[in-house]
Amino acid sequence: MDGNGRWAKSIGQSRQHGHKIGSSRVYEIFKTCTELGCNTATFFAMSSENMHRNDEETEFISQLLEISINEYFEELIKNEIKFKVIGDTSILSADILQVIEHAEHETENFTKYKLNIAYNYGGQWDIINSVNRALANNEPINQKTLSKHLTTHSDYPDLIVRTGGHKRLSNFMLWQAAYSELYFLDILWPDISQDDIKNIFNEYGNIKRKFGLIT
Ligand code: IPE
Ligand code: MG
Repeated sequence: MDGNGRWAKSIGQSRQHGHKIGSSRVYEIFKTCTELGCNTATFFAMSSENMHRNDEETEFISQLLEISINEYFEELIKNEIKFKVIGDTSILSADILQVIEHAEHETENFTKYKLNIAYNYGGQWDIINSVNRALANNEPINQKTLSKHLTTHSDYPDLIVRTGGHKRLSNFMLWQAAYSELYFLDILWPDISQDDIKNIFNEYGNIKRKFGLIT
């Protein structure tokens, strides 16, 4: 979800305003994805590197996370959406952690849909974390055990969409992205529309995915 800051600047507003409007688009876009047949989506809210921005920005965004979970909690329950925050959440305050843990706990048995928020998330961190978990269990390090201990377990994204105009992964799901289809939109995140998602899904539907094979 890149482009909140530039979007706000373009209308003479603060970066905080951009993040606020940006966060308000998440659930709507998630719903659009589910209507198009996708049952799992992860929104990259903050990378491990984004956390080195100034305190004013990181604190504001962490508050938005808390506010959004509270705002959409009933929707998660009503629509049977399993909610999870992936990333190193140990840096968050006890209050926010409590809100996250409550939402995760109350939705943990839902199987219909999954909505993940990646927060203080890095693909490199995810891999290191997974290796350490496997080692702690005395398991061999192989594709199966590494995959099992990733934050996403065996859910690998079929499709990764980045807004904001840059063509890079910025440390997002490095392991899991091995065969993902990548889409880079020249649209700032707060401007993303349901039609943008529909167009991408249409294009995705026409791709023959070969996973390295011949046909
Ligand atoms: C939102 O966009 C993504 C977050 C890291 C919260 P940015 O904050 O990167 O916005 P730009 O790139 O400055 O426009
Ligand atoms: Mg950016």
